Amino acid sequence: SPTVHIDDPETEEVIKAAAQLLHQSKCVAFPTETVYGLGADACNTEGVKNIFSAKQRPLDNPLIVHVASLRQLRELLPPAQLSTSSPPKACQEGVIPEVYEPLIAKFWPGPLTILLPLPPNSRLSPSVTAGQPTFAARLPEHPIALALCSLSRLPLAAPSANASGNPSPTTAAHVYTDLQTRIPLIIDGGSSNVGLESTVVDGLHNPPVVLRPGGISVEQIRACGGVWKDVIVRKSDTEDHDAAPQAPGMKYKHYSPRAGVVLFEHGAKQPSQKNIRPMNVAGTGWSGRVGFLRTRTWPEGVGANEDKRWTVFERSLGTNGSDISRALFAGLRELDDLGVDVIYVEGVEETDEGLAIMNRLRKAASVVVRRVP
Ligand code: TXA
Ligand code: MG
Repeated sequence: SPTVHIDDPETEEVIKAAAQLLHQSKCVAFPTETVYGLGADACNTEGVKNIFSAKQRPLDNPLIVHVASLRQLRELLPPAQLSTSSPPKACQEGVIPEVYEPLIAKFWPGPLTILLPLPPNSRLSPSVTAGQPTFAARLPEHPIALALCSLSRLPLAAPSANASGNPSPTTAAHVYTDLQTRIPLIIDGGSSNVGLESTVVDGLHNPPVVLRPGGISVEQIRACGGVWKDVIVRKSDTEDHDAAPQAPGMKYKHYSPRAGVVLFEHGAKQPSQKNIRPMNVAGTGWSGRVGFLRTRTWPEGVGANEDKRWTVFERSLGTNGSDISRALFAGLRELDDLGVDVIYVEGVEETDEGLAIMNRLRKAASVVVRRVP
């Protein structure tokens, strides 16, 4: 288990204040290494319901339970089947399914979420699991997230701390923009280092399934060997509209800024002056403002227009996968705040970090410009 070190006494005071609010059925926003979370006591239905109402999140979309140690997680799990010959134990601790051992050893604490069986008399609030036979759990790496779970002694149900449908928050300011006075406390821990949400895996099926690509890549999971060599990436709802949603979160539109997003797949021809239209999504007006998010190959000045028919706001997200992941949500939000009507985004190849990046971008996009092979 990780040891939690909060050196700064002021930070510790804020975490204690947050822990107190959690014990009063309130929800608080806190930093994690992926994105900011909006947390409440996972065993307290009133607290969990406060999350759903602050975010305006659909009630049938289940939440991830955050813990500070494997011990805190085992308390939420069913004990091993007792064989009649084994002596009864005073305290029956729950058991984490063996299949997850290599993943936990490699990636926890970190941006990986695993599905676990929900015990019959679970202490978890039914609002956390929203009717699923499983619950999702994660041991985060961020010291403030860990300190909050361990100081409060509570497992924390926490979705991303954005208003439902907006890009996830990677700074405290993003949380404040979305939730303002709906929550009593935001712990500011600076910018999230990973920038995209955790990878959600279901190892209770054979072969196991990646339900949501995220901070740990599919390649990294496959490298764990065993059944993980054959892990399947569940087709996202953006690719297959007829598929029934398996991760309940899949059926909702996500990550959408106000501006229209035009996503250019890797290898698609870059936008030219001829096909740039600073028109809003409804087609009802012009702001004269256009945004560009570059990644690997679009040149600086890709949006330049000689006759100055529109104003261009151009940002580079970086050229490598981890930089792009870190900058993506903040980039969408920044251009949105500048009042652009449309954001042209340069996509990346869908390997390594690129799979999660493109998953989020496809969900944000109103139009995808596809590469013709
Ligand atoms: O990085 C993260 O995972 C962040 C930080 C705050 O930890 N949290 C996060 O939570 O992204 P949220 O609620 O925005 O996304 C959780 C995803 C949803 O797509 C939800 O449907 C899925 O996990 N999920 C939760 N419980 C599940 C379950 N029992 N079965 C299937 N999917 C589940
Ligand atoms: Mg979310």
